[in-house]
Amino acid sequence: MAPNLAKANTQFFSSIFLVVSTIVTCLASNQFQETNMVIYTQGKFTSPGLTDIPVAGIAGSPWFFTTFGTIYVTDDNITTTIDRNSDMIGHAHGIYVASTLDGSSVYVAMSVWFTSGVYEGSTIELQGTSILEMEFREVAVVSGTGKFRFARGYATWQTAFVDQVNGYGTDRLNITVFHH
Ligand SMILES: *[C@@H]1O[C@H](CO)[C@@H](O)[C@H](O)[C@H]1NC(C)=O
Ligand SMILES: *[C@@H]1O[C@H](CO)[C@@H](O)[C@H](O)[C@H]1NC(C)=O
Repeated sequence: MAPNLAKANTQFFSSIFLVVSTIVTCLASNQFQETNMVIYTQGKFTSPGLTDIPVAGIAGSPWFFTTFGTIYVTDDNITTTIDRNSDMIGHAHGIYVASTLDGSSVYVAMSVWFTSGVYEGSTIELQGTSILEMEFREVAVVSGTGKFRFARGYATWQTAFVDQVNGYGTDRLNITVFHH
């Protein structure tokens, strides 16, 4: 009786162990880590060297950032600090669409493309509504590539520096992302 019970127990516990280790393996392979980064996008909104350019809009209307129907294409440098001469780690490139009739927000579809540093070659994809009057303009992290495959999260832009005379604008881009 006793040996049989012991054998049954051993089998029971080894099958439990199998189930548990399978679950642990699954969890480990699906494990997401959270990464937060604060980086800076360096824009130039007057010539020469424009980085945000209106390429389409409603005929007869001015192609302003706040005029419904205007599409801007952008390619801002990304640096590690607010200083535009600090280490450049990539580009923020994509489009802004003035897609609210009252001009209060723009639709953003943008790729943060890392060209150097630990994330070199990877991208984070941003998408959403940027409400212009907000101090922190939040959009979603919808996915990514390379080190950010399957990424999910959110990001905020905050105006960090504006030089009206020379046409420089720097935004603080704060990205929180869950990824493998
Ligand atoms: C972006 O980086 C390039 C290459 O370093 C530089 O020539 C250019 O002036 C930078 N643009 C802005 C707006 O900082
Ligand atoms: C960036 O965002 C995170 C998460 O929302 C927040 O905890 C942190 O204080 C922010 N950092 C800056 C410099 O705004």
